[in-house]
Amino acid sequence: MSGSKIVVTGASGVLGTAVHNAFEKALRYEVVGLKNKSTASHLVQLDLTDKEATKQKLEEIKPTWVIHCAAERRPDVAEKDQAGTQLLNVEVPGYLAELARAINFKLVYISTDYVFDGRSPPPGGYTPESPTNPLQIYGQTKRDGETAVLQARKQGAKAVVLRVPVLYGPAPNNADSAVNILIDVVRDQSKESNMDDYAIRYPTNVLDIASFLVRLTDLSFDTLPPILHYSANESFTKYQMCKIFADILGLGINHMKPVSTPPTGAGATSRPYNCHLSTAETEKLLPLECTGFRTWWEEYLQDGGK
Ligand SMILES: NC(=O)c1ccc[n+]([C@@H]2O[C@H](COP(=O)([O-])OP(=O)(O)OC[C@H]3O[C@@H](n4cnc5c(N)ncnc54)[C@H](OP(=O)(O)O)[C@@H]3O)[C@@H](O)[C@H]2O)c1
Repeated sequence: MSGSKIVVTGASGVLGTAVHNAFEKALRYEVVGLKNKSTASHLVQLDLTDKEATKQKLEEIKPTWVIHCAAERRPDVAEKDQAGTQLLNVEVPGYLAELARAINFKLVYISTDYVFDGRSPPPGGYTPESPTNPLQIYGQTKRDGETAVLQARKQGAKAVVLRVPVLYGPAPNNADSAVNILIDVVRDQSKESNMDDYAIRYPTNVLDIASFLVRLTDLSFDTLPPILHYSANESFTKYQMCKIFADILGLGINHMKPVSTPPTGAGATSRPYNCHLSTAETEKLLPLECTGFRTWWEEYLQDGGK
C-alpha cells in the first residue's frame, strides 16, 4: 500500500535483513529497521525489552505495519537463559500486540514450526489449527508468544502469526543459519563428523518469506486468519542438504557419517522429527513463490556467496 510505514524488528538478523531489504526495494514504503546490539548504522537502536522506550519509539514512528522478527531463536541459548528468552519471546510480542491496538498499527509475529512436537505430522502437514506441543524452551516461548499475540487479537489488536520452518539465505556468517552452517561442515574435509540423516526439515529461503510479507501487507487485514504458515515444500535431512552442497562445491563427503536412527542421549528428544507445515490456507490468500533449494544455492555460491 502506497505511503505505508513499515517497522521491521530484528532487522539485523537473518530474516529481518531480508524483510527490511524487500520492503525498501519495493520503493513504495517508508521503512524503519530496528536493531539491538548490532553495529549496523542504517538501523535504529531499540531494546524491545524496554517497554517505555518501545512505546515512545512506536508512537513517534506511527507505523502502518510492524513485522516482528526479533527473537531468541537459538534453542541452546534459550535453555540456558530461560528468563531472558521468556522476556524477549513472550512478553515482547504480547506488549507489541497491545501497542498494535493502542497505537493502531498492524502486527506480524514471526513464529516457528517448533511449536509442534513433530512426532506424527498429519498427511499434508500441520495446519494452523493443529494442537501445539513444543518439545523445548525455545518452542514453548514462541508458542506462548503466539498465545499472547492471539489474546490481544481477540481484544481488537490487528495481529497475525506467521509460522516458518528452518531458514536459510544470505547471511554474514554461515553460523547464523542452521542450514548455511552445513556448508562449513562440508568444506572442513579434515574434520570427521556424524550428520543427521533422520529428522526431516523444510528449509525455507528468507528472501521468499520477505517477498511474501511485502505481498501480505498489501492485503486487507480483515482477510487474514489469525495464524498463517509459510514453508517451502522440498524436504531434506541435514545429510541430504550436505550432499547437495558437496555436489555444488565439487567436494566429497566421506568425512561425514550419516546417522539415520533417532538420536539418543541428552537433549535428543528436544529436536522434533518432522514439523511439516501445511500451507494450504496461506495459498488461498497468496501464491508462495518458493525458490528451489538447489537452484538458489547453485546461483548464490557461484555468485561469490559464502
Ligand atoms: N532461524 C531459523 O531457522 C528460524 C526458524 C523458524 C522461525 N524462526 C523465527 O524467525 C525470526 C527471525 O529469526 P532469525 O534467524 O532471523 O534471528 P536472528 O538472526 O538470530 O536475529 C535475531 C534478531 O533479534 C534482535 N534482538 C535480540 N534481542 C533483542 C532485543 N532485546 N531488542 C531488540 N532486538 C533484539 C537481534 O538484534 P541485534 O543483533 O541487533 O542485537 C537480531 O536482529 C524469529 O522470530 C525466529 O524465532 C527462525
